[in-house]
Amino acid sequence: MTTEQSPTLDNLLTESRSFPPSPEFAAAANATADWYTEADADREAFWAKQAERLHWDTKWTQVLDWSNAPFAKWFVGGKLNVAYNCVDRHVEAGHGDQVAIHWVGEPGDTRDITYAQLKDEVSKAANGLLSLGVTAGDRVAIQLQMIPEAIVSMLACARIGALHSVVFGGFSPSALRQRVDDADAKVVITSDGQYRRGKAAPMKANVDEALDGAQSVEKVIVVRRTGDDLEGDVPWSDGRDIWWHELIDAQSADHKPEAFDSEHPLYILYTSGTTGKPKGILHTSGGYLTQAAYTHNAVFDHKPGQDVYWCTADIGWVTGHSYIVYGPLANRATQVVYEGTPNTPHEGRHWEIIQKYKVSIYYTAPTLIRTFMKWGAEIPAKYDLSSLRLLGSVGEPINPEAWMWFRENIGGGNCPIVDTWWQTETGAIMISPLPGVTHAKPGSAQRPLPGVSAKVVDDTATEVGNGGGGYLVLDKPWPSMLRGIWGDDERFKDTYWSRFAEQGFYFAGDGAKYDNDGDIWLLGRVDDVMNVSGHRISTTEVESALVSHPTVAEAAVVGASDPTTGQGIVAFVILRGDAAKAGDEAIQELRNHVAKEIGPIAKPRQIMVVPELPKTRSGKIMRRLLRDVAENREVGDVTTLADSTVMDQISKGLSSGSDD
Ligand code: WTA
Repeated sequence: MTTEQSPTLDNLLTESRSFPPSPEFAAAANATADWYTEADADREAFWAKQAERLHWDTKWTQVLDWSNAPFAKWFVGGKLNVAYNCVDRHVEAGHGDQVAIHWVGEPGDTRDITYAQLKDEVSKAANGLLSLGVTAGDRVAIQLQMIPEAIVSMLACARIGALHSVVFGGFSPSALRQRVDDADAKVVITSDGQYRRGKAAPMKANVDEALDGAQSVEKVIVVRRTGDDLEGDVPWSDGRDIWWHELIDAQSADHKPEAFDSEHPLYILYTSGTTGKPKGILHTSGGYLTQAAYTHNAVFDHKPGQDVYWCTADIGWVTGHSYIVYGPLANRATQVVYEGTPNTPHEGRHWEIIQKYKVSIYYTAPTLIRTFMKWGAEIPAKYDLSSLRLLGSVGEPINPEAWMWFRENIGGGNCPIVDTWWQTETGAIMISPLPGVTHAKPGSAQRPLPGVSAKVVDDTATEVGNGGGGYLVLDKPWPSMLRGIWGDDERFKDTYWSRFAEQGFYFAGDGAKYDNDGDIWLLGRVDDVMNVSGHRISTTEVESALVSHPTVAEAAVVGASDPTTGQGIVAFVILRGDAAKAGDEAIQELRNHVAKEIGPIAKPRQIMVVPELPKTRSGKIMRRLLRDVAENREVGDVTTLADSTVMDQISKGLSSGSDD
């Protein structure tokens, strides 16, 4: 087969809808089209200008030092305090009374925290940590649900130069222990319990189980959240454990922030690798904050003092770090932080919150959008969502159908949607429409942001042409890039920089294509790409074709080994309400629908109707487990599933497949 016949990744799906911003939105937008030309003309000057939006105690002498690639240094010689930038400077500028956080607890309790109050809280927490002997460079593990103390803890660490390592509140004791040990955390911050779907569940008990025998941990700080709602006593280890309110309330609200080097480490955030041990992704201060703040300003068109912003992520993920804590607070946002699940106590909870706080910018994940679709458009229709003026999505490819649903049913047909591609490793948004500039296309992340450079290349690192698919690489360093994997430089080089070592490209595993306009479409992880009769087909495109059928709510596809075609496409679909009991005919129609939408080569060999899909806790589909089912194997490790019973539900309900 010649190279022409065997592209790195086939380009099958086409999309012709396009939505320009309204003239009013474009006229008032923060970012303008000339940012692209300005950044192309002089990238470093462009980033220096973005860094100027922050307060630096000492200015840098060099924008970028890439002499020791892949270990970058940005804003070399500069000094700043990240927490001062996120809190104090807004108070000093006269905005102390502006609400920073409208916090909504799951049971319905609320707190509004102004920037002045946040400054006091963070200062007290910083003094509290100092009183326990935490100093710059120490690691503090934080396992907390979405309560204000989580944000305060992160900022308190940043303020004194300690690194935080936030561990998702739903992670098991062994996952917590692994992360505590890897980073040698000195202090752990957690809570007595957390509310989950209306019930108080223990948290501290799990943390104790995790920390049994942990060598590095000297103190455990416990926030009292569920209090008397929690059954039984909170297990306590005298001498090690201390209540947050006893430690912090007694502290002075005066704390003078120290300026740290631009490359001083800010945090570690663990992300699971394909095998074994999670990777501690390391981010540093000046470059990270510059790009988090820049992207929050440009991509969300955020106007301080006017917008009410809501990012629905959990602080356990990088989205919570960059777009709840660092980006928005550096930009003086007023934001909603919600503790609970979207269907507690009812499926309209998010819309009720948007209505109440007049949220204008709403940033969420495709998995949640598809869940809202399943629940039905009549639920958001009951609320006044007219305050919304911009919508965003992150974490997975958003299928064109989900994009359209989001636009029509949540955005009232007139909000720009930003589909933002980035990773824990990139620290901040890399590829996204600019809301006042880009003519948005459902399902495409479109172009690298001004200042960012990304390409789609083939096996030989040659850029593919329009209409071609391949590997997504980042070919130039960017300010918020990871500075390494904690304690493992070799793994850092191997994982991200070895695939295209000669060219010096960063590669983190995603497939992508250019459409005929040169816009970028993300096609899923390259490990998931299917190979059918020599055609390399992306999971995303087949899933989007399935979801574009009116009976399908969600879909996941995998390649299963096939004696004739190498791999055959096996699809798992969740049907919408009425269609849930579809027979053979409906399945046949779905297969034909895919063939019609993207071509006969992509027609699924088999479609299985399932009640749920296996997802990680951040909403990503675990195709590995579905491949086990598709190839009739024993299902592998399910410990990182959000709901561990899902695989049983799937195996039980597998009677409705079609197999011709
Ligand atoms: C996927 C989340 C398509 C992608 C910020 C990436 C996306 C991984 C998008 C990183 C998007 C994220 N379109 N795919 N807009 N955003 N991804 O580290 O596979 O949790 O490599 O960071 O999510 O996930 P992570």
